[in-house]
Amino acid sequence: MTPAQALAFLREAEVLHLALTRPDGSPVLRTLNAAVSDEWLLFHGAPSGEKAQCVGRAAVVQAEEVVATIPSYFTDKEKACPATTFFRSVQVHGTLERIVDPHVKADALQRIMERYQPEGGHLPISFDTPLYQNAIRGILVLGVRIREVTGNAKLGQNKGPTEAQALMSALWGRGAPGDARAISLMFQHHPEAARPARFRGPAGTWLWPWLPPSDAPEAAALLRDQYWTRGVSDELLVAAQLGSNVWVGARDENGRLVATARANSDGVRHPYVADVAVAPEHRHRGLGAALVELLLEHPALRRVPSVRLGTADAQPFYERFGFVPEPQVDFGFPMTSLLLRRAPTAQLTE
Ligand SMILES: CC(C)(COP(=O)(O)OP(=O)(O)OC[C@H]1O[C@@H](n2cnc3c(N)ncnc32)[C@H](O)[C@@H]1OP(=O)(O)O)[C@@H](O)C(=O)NCCC(=O)NCCS
Repeated sequence: MTPAQALAFLREAEVLHLALTRPDGSPVLRTLNAAVSDEWLLFHGAPSGEKAQCVGRAAVVQAEEVVATIPSYFTDKEKACPATTFFRSVQVHGTLERIVDPHVKADALQRIMERYQPEGGHLPISFDTPLYQNAIRGILVLGVRIREVTGNAKLGQNKGPTEAQALMSALWGRGAPGDARAISLMFQHHPEAARPARFRGPAGTWLWPWLPPSDAPEAAALLRDQYWTRGVSDELLVAAQLGSNVWVGARDENGRLVATARANSDGVRHPYVADVAVAPEHRHRGLGAALVELLLEHPALRRVPSVRLGTADAQPFYERFGFVPEPQVDFGFPMTSLLLRRAPTAQLTE
């Protein structure tokens, strides 16, 4: 990872691990909530706590996530040796320092609040606010000044394109939770030649089986002012993408999101497809069909016996996959489908 990617990973990490040594050389390992700036990792502690004893000493901070476990039989039917784990991890090396200036302490604490309570709901922390002065004086604020940051995304980059393709295809075939995401992360760290043909879309596009949260505003822009989203804010469209457990898309040669589709599925029964849209300049080239096919093949949808969606005019588009109008919901035994219409709450309307 580049230093900027590594810092972005740290900023998104829910917790960080801090390793230190006490003056007698004995090790200390702590889990932290911290705010991350370009130069500092900032956190707080008890004035008489263990961390306080380690001020001035070398510190290592790490955050990591497992992306996918890769079984040996993905690449070798006999030998166990290729078994591995794909992961992303970031390490920061620096020195533990005590923040003394009360204004700087207040600023650090406010940053931590913004990180973990972004919705606000409190007076901003400032040493000029009498409410906070005693608390700021009494709390220990520490920082690791970042001397070196290294980010490692181990996603099979040591494999050539053919082997990487085989791995991505095997992940898609396995379809364990997180595998669609692992493939999209591999897309980011491998050349295009390493992507399986399964994910090739028409006219130079690529189909992504998982999209990062940062794509949600682009998806909202594609969905804005469709007949079913009129009056729905971009904020709600973004929340709907992020709240769906299946969200796929297509990117053009420049990496721009040009198609989006999502579904909610328990993986077993009654999934619902929603918000299918292709950028106007990419329509009528088979991209919509390719994306819906990928969506239906997604691990969370591929085993379900029936899939529902609603459309005002695109029945012919969905017919090719076998979708038919459903006059009455067929549960396989006599049953009436019931619908509850509720007045939207204040938060759900613009
Ligand atoms: C519907 C949509 C996703 C199709 O994307 P696409 O990339 O053009 O789809 P494809 O090229 O794979 O297929 C196009 C074919 O689907 C059918 N089709 C697409 N939209 C249709 C519609 N609204 N009514 C009837 N047929 C439609 C036509 O047969 C069309 O053939 P054509 O290209 O010869 O006209 C795209 O038109 C779109 O984003 N529309 C606006 C949003 C929308 O209506 N989404 C579906 C909501 S349920």
